Amino acid sequence: MSSTADFSLTATPGRLLPTAIRGEGCRIWTADGQEWIDACGGAMVMSVGHCHPRLVDALKRQAEQLTFTYRFSFSNEPMLELAELLREVSPMPDSWAFFNSSGSESVESAINLVFLYWRERGRPEKTGLISRAPSYHGSTVGALGLSGTARRDDYEELLDPNAIAPTPGADIAARRTPAEECAHALGGLETAILERGPDTVGAIFVEPITGASGAALVPPDGYLQGVRELCTRYELLMICDETITGFGRTGAWFGVDQWGVEPDVITFAKGVTSGIVPFSGMLAAGHVAEVLMRRPDGFPVGHTFSGYPLGCAVGAEMIRVIRDEELLANATAMGERLRTGLDRIADGSPHVGQVRGMGLLQGIELVEDRETLTPRAGGTARVVAAAREQHLMIYSCVTRVGSRVVEAVMLAPPLNISEDDIDIILARLEQSIGAA
Ligand SMILES: Cc1ncc(COP(=O)(O)O)c(C=O)c1O
Repeated sequence: MSSTADFSLTATPGRLLPTAIRGEGCRIWTADGQEWIDACGGAMVMSVGHCHPRLVDALKRQAEQLTFTYRFSFSNEPMLELAELLREVSPMPDSWAFFNSSGSESVESAINLVFLYWRERGRPEKTGLISRAPSYHGSTVGALGLSGTARRDDYEELLDPNAIAPTPGADIAARRTPAEECAHALGGLETAILERGPDTVGAIFVEPITGASGAALVPPDGYLQGVRELCTRYELLMICDETITGFGRTGAWFGVDQWGVEPDVITFAKGVTSGIVPFSGMLAAGHVAEVLMRRPDGFPVGHTFSGYPLGCAVGAEMIRVIRDEELLANATAMGERLRTGLDRIADGSPHVGQVRGMGLLQGIELVEDRETLTPRAGGTARVVAAAREQHLMIYSCVTRVGSRVVEAVMLAPPLNISEDDIDIILARLEQSIGAA
C-alpha cells in the first residue's frame, strides 16, 4: 500500500516521504517502483546492507526456537555465544558484555556502570562525567546530557552540562597542524578534568571518530593515546562510544583499534545487527567487570530486552559474516576508493572545505570558499535535496561549533559494497555537490 497520509509521529512535517517496501545491499525500493541508493545506511546502521541473507536466516532460526528471556530469570544460548565471540574481537582483554536495544540505552548502561564501579571501589564521590563538544551520545536524558549538540537545546533544564572538552578537528577554520590540534584538544580535556576536580570525576566519554555531530571528525594521531594517559593519570574510566564506529565501519573491528588504544568500556549499536533487529551493547574490560562482579548483585541494571535472543543471534552471525566475507579488508579497500573519489570531487568544487573520515565513514564539510572556510549556510539541505532528486540517500550533519553552524554531509555505505556501487554513489554525489 502506498499511503497518502502519515499519522506516525515519525512524519516529516509538510512532506510525505516515499514508502520503502524492499531493501537489498545498499538499495531500497519504494512503493512507487523507484530504486534508491542508501549511501549512509539511514543513520549509519546498515553495516552489511539491507536484508543480508545470513542475518535474515539467523533471525528466522532463532525466532523458531526462542524469542525472549528475562535477564533475571534465564540466560540464553545466543547471548552466551555472542559474549564469547565479542571477547575475540574486543580490543580490551577479558571483556564482558552487556546487551540492550539502542545506542542511547547502552550509553545509559555505561553511566550506570561508572557509578557502580566507583562505589564498589570505595570512591562513591567519583560520579562526574566529562564528554566533548561537538558530540552525540543519544536521546535519553543521561546520553543527551553527555552530548555536545543543538539537539539538547529544548531540554537543557533536564540535562547535565557534561560536554565541556573540545573535540579535535571540529573547527577547520582554526587551521591547526595535527600536532597543534592534538595539544589543544588534550589541553582542553585536562583543564576540564582539573576544573571539575579529578576526585569527583568517574569517566570520560569519547566517540573515537565523531559521527552524527561532526561528520566523521578523525582525531589526530596521539589524541586517543593522550586521552588514555589522562584517564590513567587521573583515575578515570575511558569510555568509547562506538555506536557508529564499531563492527568494521572504519576497516577495524572498533574505531579505537585504529590507534591501538585499550579503553575501559566500549558501547556499540547500529552496525551490530545491520538493522535486522534493534540491538546494542556494552563491553567492559576484564579489570572493570571483575570489580562489578564482586557485588552480590553483579551489574543489576536491566532493560526488559537486555540479552534479547534475537538480537544476540543476529549479532553473533554478524561477527561470522564480517570474518567469512573479509569485510574489514573490503571496508578498507572500498574506503580508499570512496576517499579518492571524494577528494577528486573536492578538487572540482569551491564549496568543499574538507573531506575527512576513515574507511567507509566519510564526511564532507561545505564552506563558502576555501580561503575563509566560512560555513556555507544552507549548503547541507541543498546538497541532501539534490541527492534525493537522484535517489541517493546521504546523511545530513549540521552542527553548532561555538558560534559557527558547521554544514556537512556524511556517507556510510555497507562494508560489503562493490566498486561499481562506490562509483555510482560518487557520480550522483558529484552532481549533488554542485547544488551547494
Ligand atoms: C555515537 C552515538 N552514540 C549514541 C547514539 C544513539 O543511538 P540510538 O539512536 O540507537 O539510541 C548515536 C546515534 O546516532 C550515536 O551516533
